[in-house]
Amino acid sequence: SIEYKIDSLLKIMTIEEKVGQMNQYNGFWDVTGPSPKGGSAELKYEHLRKGWVGSMLTVRGVEQVKAVQKIITEESRLGIPLIIGFDVIHGYKTLSPIPLAEAASWDLEAIKKSASIAANEASASGINWTFGPMVDISRDARWGRVMEGAGEDPFLGSRVAEARVKGFQGDDLAADNTIAACAKHFAGYGFSEAGKEYNTVNIGTSTLHNVILPPFKAAVDAGVRTLMNSFNELNGVPVTGSSYLQRDILKNKWKFNGFVISDWASISEMITWGYVKDKREAAIKAVTAGSDMDMESHTYIQELAQLVKDGVVSESLLDDAVKRILRVKFELGLFENPYKYCDENREKETIGNKENNDGVLDMAKKSIVLLKNENNLLPLKKEGQKIALIGALAADKDSPLGSWRIASENNTAVSVLEGMQQYKGNSLVYKKGTDVIIGEATFLNEVKINTTDKSEFAEAIDAAKSANVVVMVLGEHGFQSGEGRSRTDLNLPGLQQELLQEVFKVNKNIVLVLQNGRPLTINWADKHIPAIVEAWQLGTQTGNAIAQVLYGDYNPSGKLPMTFPRNVGQIPIYYNYKNTGRPVDKDKNVFWSHYSDVENTPLYPFGHGLSYTTFKYSDLKISNPSFLIGDEVKISVKVSNTGNKDGKEVVQLYIRDLVASITRPVKELKGFELVELKVGETKTINFTLNNEILGFFDNEGNFIVEPGAFMVFVGGSSITELEADFELK
Ligand code: IFM
Repeated sequence: SIEYKIDSLLKIMTIEEKVGQMNQYNGFWDVTGPSPKGGSAELKYEHLRKGWVGSMLTVRGVEQVKAVQKIITEESRLGIPLIIGFDVIHGYKTLSPIPLAEAASWDLEAIKKSASIAANEASASGINWTFGPMVDISRDARWGRVMEGAGEDPFLGSRVAEARVKGFQGDDLAADNTIAACAKHFAGYGFSEAGKEYNTVNIGTSTLHNVILPPFKAAVDAGVRTLMNSFNELNGVPVTGSSYLQRDILKNKWKFNGFVISDWASISEMITWGYVKDKREAAIKAVTAGSDMDMESHTYIQELAQLVKDGVVSESLLDDAVKRILRVKFELGLFENPYKYCDENREKETIGNKENNDGVLDMAKKSIVLLKNENNLLPLKKEGQKIALIGALAADKDSPLGSWRIASENNTAVSVLEGMQQYKGNSLVYKKGTDVIIGEATFLNEVKINTTDKSEFAEAIDAAKSANVVVMVLGEHGFQSGEGRSRTDLNLPGLQQELLQEVFKVNKNIVLVLQNGRPLTINWADKHIPAIVEAWQLGTQTGNAIAQVLYGDYNPSGKLPMTFPRNVGQIPIYYNYKNTGRPVDKDKNVFWSHYSDVENTPLYPFGHGLSYTTFKYSDLKISNPSFLIGDEVKISVKVSNTGNKDGKEVVQLYIRDLVASITRPVKELKGFELVELKVGETKTINFTLNNEILGFFDNEGNFIVEPGAFMVFVGGSSITELEADFELK
């Protein structure tokens, strides 16, 4: 068995070799070239030859991966193969939509498929481990990394986490087209104070257990093989050094038997946090807390062996970590064949093939959310129209690739312009109007926003004057969100708002297509622009997906996975808030929970999204309005397509636990189903609520179910249409 093999191997490993398994290095030199001389590359190379490296990240491509595996397996004493990690966040080379966009599909099968396409491509390129999915719940659109997650809700987040883990890992981790997944960032990173990157996180136990941890638990239950801890601290303890999270909860309570990788240098960054004084202390804290592998901080490799020899760190801690790492390597089949992901022919046939492009196109269409569509301005007529396409993002082939796309080539997205050009029945004029950014945007640099150059306004306005419809593609550049990209202003960046208003003066028939990695504040647009399409950053097939939706060849069905605020001051704003003691203005005075300058409601609520058809909800029924703890209740509702186009609807079910020993949110998503309905068709949708759904975590992290009255709400968004109640006895 695998366990026997692990134990046998462990017995013959030296302390240094064990520490080596716990050490991960970033790719550093062209491994197919001559051996490097000087600096950290030479050191890393030497460590590889000694077997003091357990994993490498960012090395990619069959040729490169083969070369590093060859060094470690042929030159080191035990020849233990490397596990090769990479940030396969939304596709490898063929990019699918950013994860937040995919979550907007609420289509779990599609999300799973998208992850499996990514796994297929990445594994064909030598990679066997992705640092995804990111399952951090976040309520703060200022935080740039919301683009990498599934939004604000723990229930949707958990289902998406499961789908992604299953998509990456498949049914058989040893297959050559599946890769190990990594649920990150454990835990609390999405609650970085003020949405500021890498900031402190201070949250109560109720939020931790009921909001932040559920998607991680769902990922563990779905079989995720690794977790990544995080840059943040949680209530004063850097999570990389948190025994509570990594040992007590993850490894003991949840019985997770895979391994935990630190985030990049997060072990040594505990020094900068002021939590430990040097690398020696950092190593002690991290290994004791259960951080099994050190990503690029060189702390374990420098300190751990001596700490064991000094009797400060028990060798059993190393054994525990190494067993976990070896287990995943055995499961991947790396010991049988370290080169199993290294087939040049497969690499050539797989990367960027038609099947993958078709797959990401399908995902891209499903991710689009129709926010507004007055007077059925959309879909566009296919013939006889003069269309003015305006906005720098409309012709941009790079920005829609979004952030985290290290393996893909720049400028490889199908632009909206290219997508729309395929519809030849209309005349199409393209004018940029204004640039969003100045110069080049890269993964490592801060983007520079254009705030001055209006030189191309006039010709865009001119084109709009004579058009039947104006399509404006505005929003954020792909490198305005992602890691290190927090913002305090969520309006359309640069001069785009001004351009929108100028164009509106000459033509009110505007379809606004948004490209962005997070919710934006678009109050003016919501008030004035008749049709608004949320198109996020949709990856390689962006333009095709958007054109098919605009022309009605695909009927959109996406729903927002994150609330759109009216202004930044409302953040954090989320649908599952607590009632407070003063939710309404009973006495018409100021002493209630509100702002004096903006409504409490969001601009667009969680779960919102329209279709080119309409749906009606009716007949909400509860099987047994009063039932005992341990029993189930069945809820049914009828949904009808009352419009004149076939369509899909995400039927959403929410509950409210009216009185509980820990106050509960005013609404909590507890079920959803994506239903296809033909024109005139009605379907009955059934949900089952059981203890697991009706309970919650107390402040000690125990799951409890309490008797009492509940409400249930069903509809097409978190502003639901129907409600009923039941009692749990
Ligand atoms: O996987 C990422 C992580 O999410 C942020 N820091 C770097 C890691 C590896 O690239």
